[in-house]
Amino acid sequence: MTPLGALGSRLEERLRTHAATVGVVGLGYVGLPLAAAFARAGFAVIGVDADPARSARLARGISPVEDVPTDELRPLVESGRLVVRSTPEALGEADAIVICVPTPLGKSKEPDISFIVAAAEGVAGVLRPGRLVVLESTTYPGTTDEVLLPRFSRGGLRVGEDFFLAFSPERIDPGNRTWGLARIPKVVGGVTPACRHLAETLYRQIIDRVVPVSTTQVAEMVKLFENTFRSVNIALVNELAIMCRRLGMPVWEVIGAAATKPFGYMAFQPGPGIGGHCLPSDPHYLSWRSRLAGYEAKFIAFADEINGGMPRYVVDLVRDALNEQSRAVKGSRILALGVAYKAGVGDIRDSPALEIIESLQALGARVEYADPRVPQVTVGGHRLEAVEWEKADLGAYDLVLLLTAHAEFEPKRLVSEARLVVDTRNATGALGELPHVVRL
Ligand SMILES: NC(=O)c1ccc[n+]([C@@H]2O[C@H](COP(=O)([O-])OP(=O)(O)OC[C@H]3O[C@@H](n4cnc5c(N)ncnc54)[C@H](O)[C@@H]3O)[C@@H](O)[C@H]2O)c1
Repeated sequence: MTPLGALGSRLEERLRTHAATVGVVGLGYVGLPLAAAFARAGFAVIGVDADPARSARLARGISPVEDVPTDELRPLVESGRLVVRSTPEALGEADAIVICVPTPLGKSKEPDISFIVAAAEGVAGVLRPGRLVVLESTTYPGTTDEVLLPRFSRGGLRVGEDFFLAFSPERIDPGNRTWGLARIPKVVGGVTPACRHLAETLYRQIIDRVVPVSTTQVAEMVKLFENTFRSVNIALVNELAIMCRRLGMPVWEVIGAAATKPFGYMAFQPGPGIGGHCLPSDPHYLSWRSRLAGYEAKFIAFADEINGGMPRYVVDLVRDALNEQSRAVKGSRILALGVAYKAGVGDIRDSPALEIIESLQALGARVEYADPRVPQVTVGGHRLEAVEWEKADLGAYDLVLLLTAHAEFEPKRLVSEARLVVDTRNATGALGELPHVVRL
């Protein structure tokens, strides 16, 4: 039994009985599904998002996040279970506060934890005895203890006795219908055993399995390692794709056959590059922190170089495919299918599609795009409006470039109507070798 003290025991009871109020700071891809999950479980939830336009829309029950559709959000808001505000003062009533703010990179790929600092200052202003605070934003090991703890202890509150502090990395995969929030095990590290116990208790109310670890630093490192693992393995298959092309063999067939090995192998897919808020950034949090400790991370740098070179590689594939047809990129009409960084979502943050479209435009191509989830996009300072996939005259383009394998982009229609296809996702793979289809 972990000794909790009077304040901790009271909080534990409130969490177990769902009588507690949960505050969520940052209502984006991570925070909104979490806030909705607590509200659905019967907790009173106060969500705070510093973006006034976003919080005003959320307060009307309108969701910008695919994983929490508006028809699921609206009843939670209308019933008063989920209250949305734009300033942290609203968190004064919250028993437990979870911070889910962005952690981008600065100009030299160093961690930018300014959102965490701002959120922590806001929470510090309302922190009262008997409260639990959990940081979920992906960040470098040490952030919880070095950045949050001093701010919360400033007024004389003692961690583990008067208030409780933990780190629990978010692992959701937006758009993934199989592995939703409740089914993904939640790693939790506390500043003290009581902190960890209370954070475990919080998450057990909405998540099937909670995995306690010894410290907040371990919990922070777990997330960075997971995403570095993905980034490095994606870089490896991207490099395999480059090598297979040189050697004149289909990389997708190699990967598919390798994946039949029942142990010791895990399939990763090559593609036009990595995007989103996590993979392009998270490994740099680790290499930055490691560099401060005197060790230069090598795999992370290699993976960054290979993954970062993929958009250029795709542009070369397009150029070569057009060249085979005796056409130049300059003046060609190209339709890019998908600008979101992955299938099933409308997130274009760091999407390699943007770099590819911009490079093709710079070479003189006339590029249009279709993406059912992204109605407009700004590329190289120019605003583009999406072409409707259903109505698009695929045969009118010199080349159709598939960048995101959204389910809507039906492969049969693509290969039967388009004159020339570059498929960076093997979406057309099941249709076999076709003379007018070039695959990564
Ligand atoms: N998107 C993912 O798939 C994913 C998965 C796992 C972990 N993460 C991590 O979770 C964290 C959040 O990512 P996200 O994708 O939800 O970001 P996001 O940009 O979708 O949402 C963050 C929200 O926080 C708000 N915000 C910023 N500063 C604030 C403040 N001081 N107070 C209140 N609100 C504030 C922003 O307005 C925004 O709406 C990041 O550290 C990210 O690396 C993201």
